Amino acid sequence: MNTDVTLKTLKLTSPVILASGTCGYAVECADLFDVSRVGAFICKGTTLEEREGNAQVRIAETASGMLNAVGLENIGVERLIKEKVPLWQKFVKPVLVNVAGSDIAEYVAVVSKLSQIWGIAGIELNISCPNVKAGCIEFGSNPAMAKELVRQGRMVCTLPLFVKLTPNTSLVAEVASAVMDEGADGVCLINTVRGMAIDIKGRKALLANVTGGLSGPAIKPIALAHLYKVRQVLGKEAIIVGGGGISSGLDAIEFIMTGANAVTVGTAFIQSPRAPVEIQQGIEDFMHKEGIKNLSEIQSVIIK
Ligand SMILES: Cc1cc2nc3c(=O)[nH]c(=O)nc-3n(C[C@H](O)[C@H](O)[C@H](O)COP(=O)(O)O)c2cc1C
Repeated sequence: MNTDVTLKTLKLTSPVILASGTCGYAVECADLFDVSRVGAFICKGTTLEEREGNAQVRIAETASGMLNAVGLENIGVERLIKEKVPLWQKFVKPVLVNVAGSDIAEYVAVVSKLSQIWGIAGIELNISCPNVKAGCIEFGSNPAMAKELVRQGRMVCTLPLFVKLTPNTSLVAEVASAVMDEGADGVCLINTVRGMAIDIKGRKALLANVTGGLSGPAIKPIALAHLYKVRQVLGKEAIIVGGGGISSGLDAIEFIMTGANAVTVGTAFIQSPRAPVEIQQGIEDFMHKEGIKNLSEIQSVIIK
């Protein structure tokens, strides 16, 4: 039995990928769990300049999930290259960089700086962050804008290029097709679902940003439905990384059966540092019980 997956030129020994914004800059995770058991890491959304993110309160617990409006706090691309990439060059697992921007020029500038450097396994273009004033989700909700962004990004990107999609639009499949047409190596879905919570004593929104992104088990059915649609539209060969609310190996199996080549784990890891390894173990246990030798045997099986 093996759990290897191939995402174009990126070869992973596990389909479990730590989701952007939930695993810091990956190397910190080595103190928390056996990182050799997972496939890859995607670091925090990175912009051209360092960003402080939104004001507090930025995080709230909800029934079966969490709301966040961190607002892309990050160290900026120059510090990332200087401080983090040398660590990734020695790290046991591939690290992809999640790239965000407020306009096409910013995305392209960040991608082209990263493309020239050894130690980065790929790029995840974040066109789906719901918590910033400009850029990001604007691209993810508009197929024409997404297409132009990926066309220009692809021209400067020599690394595997994935695009992270938002569920906060009725055009998810159209955006997925548009970015694949422009040469993206795959799509990742979903980012968080726009949500809100109220501080009833204070008579105001709980988050300083008013709205935030909902993640965790609450969004799993939403993620599966989008994955199902996007897999149908893109066909069996396209690379799709699925995620949203995965907290067990069996959740991951549901995503793989619905069309994911690999899966991301975010909130479950924030809740428990054991989650990524337990999810990998759960996948292996299921494969063992069902006599599955290779994950490709069950990948997309529910798509007719
Ligand atoms: C605190 C927090 C920060 C996040 N930051 C980013 C980010 O910088 N870039 C991004 O593309 N997604 C970001 N996400 C979204 C996650 O990568 C993931 O897509 C989402 O949380 C759904 O998966 P989950 O339910 O497994 O957490 C963030 C999520 C959380 C909870």
